[in-house]
Amino acid sequence: WNMADVLQEEMTKVTAAVGPTDHVICALSGGVDSTVAATLVHRVLGDRLHCVFVDNGLLRYAEAERVMDTFREHLHLPVTKIDVSERMLARLAGVTDPEAKRKAIGKEFIDTFQEYATGLEASLGHAPRFLVQGTLYPDVIESCPPPGSGQKHSHTIKSHHNVGGLPEDLRFTLIEPLRELFKDEVRALGRLLEVPERFIARHPFPGPGLAVRVLGDVTAGDALATLREVDEVYVNAIREWGLYDDIWQAFAVFLPIRSVGVQGDQRTHSHVVALRAVTSSDGMTADWFPFQPDFLRYVSTKICNSVRGVNRVVYDVTSKPPSTIEWE
Ligand code: XMP
Repeated sequence: WNMADVLQEEMTKVTAAVGPTDHVICALSGGVDSTVAATLVHRVLGDRLHCVFVDNGLLRYAEAERVMDTFREHLHLPVTKIDVSERMLARLAGVTDPEAKRKAIGKEFIDTFQEYATGLEASLGHAPRFLVQGTLYPDVIESCPPPGSGQKHSHTIKSHHNVGGLPEDLRFTLIEPLRELFKDEVRALGRLLEVPERFIARHPFPGPGLAVRVLGDVTAGDALATLREVDEVYVNAIREWGLYDDIWQAFAVFLPIRSVGVQGDQRTHSHVVALRAVTSSDGMTADWFPFQPDFLRYVSTKICNSVRGVNRVVYDVTSKPPSTIEWE
């Protein structure tokens, strides 16, 4: 496709859908998709677009501060930050089933957007009825059976938080300008919209965040805090070794098991973390990334030496299929 035509077509659709006076809200995650979707809609609607960044308690190390700084400095999009981490974690306490987690997260997101829209009523005279999301074509395919396929819901692979995780009584009309595009097309569109390269080149990060990277109960013990530290060491090491741009996505996973180790002559019974890195062109299929042994040695040593409570690091050597990229 010609991306300039796609851009024009999607901008025309936004104009037609929203009309001349309505206001729109947009959930910005700090990732490529929502940033490109928001930038496109901002081109059309200007200050009738109200962006919100939700700190859901499931973000990576220092992510909220980093993302808000970058929005302010480079994107000039109006963004309000809302912290719902306590509510989100309360909702997830004790939930272990991956689909139940995704549904709970989708519900909390929508409740938050609804409250934000209602809060705008006083200043705008009406609560915005439109919600912009950066949904991509692969999110749609993996969350819902393809149209006309006759498949039942049991064929869902994962309910992406912004598709299959949405409640049935959603009060927003969705604006999804990227719904027919793959990631590489979204990146091309972003370049056309002059979104800074530092956003375009970011690895994808799932909407449900670290909840799908802490297996089982996200709120158990110090799982989230440990995972944040491990992930930060791992991704920084990938950057230091100049590998970030060769990889589609790299992240750590917290496993709810312990193993025996020996650290400083002491027996330990501590956490196991898995590292994942894949190459892919669209996220629909993926290959595990063949790190050099020297890198794996460096990163596993660094993690065990610097993150308390971790005594074992394993590397995931499974492609998609049969695995998916995320573990849940
Ligand atoms: P899977 O794990 O399905 O992931 O192989 C494919 C790509 O999609 C991302 N992903 C999500 N992105 N909401 C998102 O915005 C979600 O609910 C979601 N689940 C997975 C995943 O990180 C990978 O890039």
